[in-house]
Amino acid sequence: MNIPRCIEWVGDLDGYVRIIDQTLLPEEVRHIECRDAETMFEAIRSLRVRGAPAIGIAAAMGLVLGIRKTTGSENDFFAELNRQRQYLAGARPTAVNLCWALDRMVRCAESLRGKSVEQIKKTLWSEAQAIRDEDAAACRAIGKFGSRLIPDGGGVLTHCNAGALATAEYGTALAAIYSAHEQGRRFKVYCDETRPLLQGSRLTAWELMQAGVDTTVICDNMAAALMKAGQIQCVIVGADRIAANGDVANKIGTYGLAVLAKAHAIPFYVAAPVSTFDLNCPTGDQIPIEQRDPNEVLCFRGKVSAPAGAKVWNPAFDVTPAKLVTAIVTNRGVIEPVDLGQITRIMRAPST
Ligand code: MRU
Repeated sequence: MNIPRCIEWVGDLDGYVRIIDQTLLPEEVRHIECRDAETMFEAIRSLRVRGAPAIGIAAAMGLVLGIRKTTGSENDFFAELNRQRQYLAGARPTAVNLCWALDRMVRCAESLRGKSVEQIKKTLWSEAQAIRDEDAAACRAIGKFGSRLIPDGGGVLTHCNAGALATAEYGTALAAIYSAHEQGRRFKVYCDETRPLLQGSRLTAWELMQAGVDTTVICDNMAAALMKAGQIQCVIVGADRIAANGDVANKIGTYGLAVLAKAHAIPFYVAAPVSTFDLNCPTGDQIPIEQRDPNEVLCFRGKVSAPAGAKVWNPAFDVTPAKLVTAIVTNRGVIEPVDLGQITRIMRAPST
């Protein structure tokens, strides 16, 4: 299968991070080279690199870019490390993977106090790549556990992009789909276009078609009719942050799909690595929701689509209550039913 790699470090510590500029897809596949933390911050904020696991990897690699030229004492190094951590953490608020990766990097550096600064820099560079490699392995494990949920025959609905373009490789929700496809199961995948930024039609449809999966694009407002027509046997989406009680923050529109799935007695699955769980958030009410530029709603692909001066509400994410989620597929197994007890069990389980 032909599956893209959206982010990778090229060369040694003096090298650069190569990302696919996802704002240009599907018309153009162009890579950009990030050589400093500022370029990476901008890439995350403007969704050139996006999707919860991928922005965790991007932040970890961005931190290496931010500190690799630091000179001076150990104290100077740690002051700069913490400054860069704070800076990158502000790029986007909802996906917990971003802060999770930055905190892991800082913990790694702290464990090396007393070693030379050059040694710490090299180890941080390896740690960022370990975060990438572990995410790739997590996606494969999600694919293995999740493929069983994909029906042979019938239709699967997904929202936004939780595929290779949102992770190190292979995806989360799309990992289940890719894995089922590789096993020879036959089914149709319906991609919500996902207004306002069209991650479903631009990105998910693009990568599924490259992989040879039977793909159909629908506008967001067509999902209910499709379900009523009996064309959808399950919904599977990714997640940006999952609270301790199983409430799921994901791309705006996910909550509506979960309500529709319930009304039509269709299973609603979420796929995410354990790095997307935030046990410090007791419920979804504590998850910060990113508000984005009104122009994303007032314009459609650069063309004005609403009257000038119209008010706009543009949250990038919504929260689906745990009670609407049939199961959560993780890299350590499937959580079903979705509740604190089952989540705690999976968080304590060893990785496969
Ligand atoms: O704003 P985006 O494109 O970063 O939103 C991405 C999503 O909502 C994805 O579904 C989520 O991050 C899971 S990616 C495996």
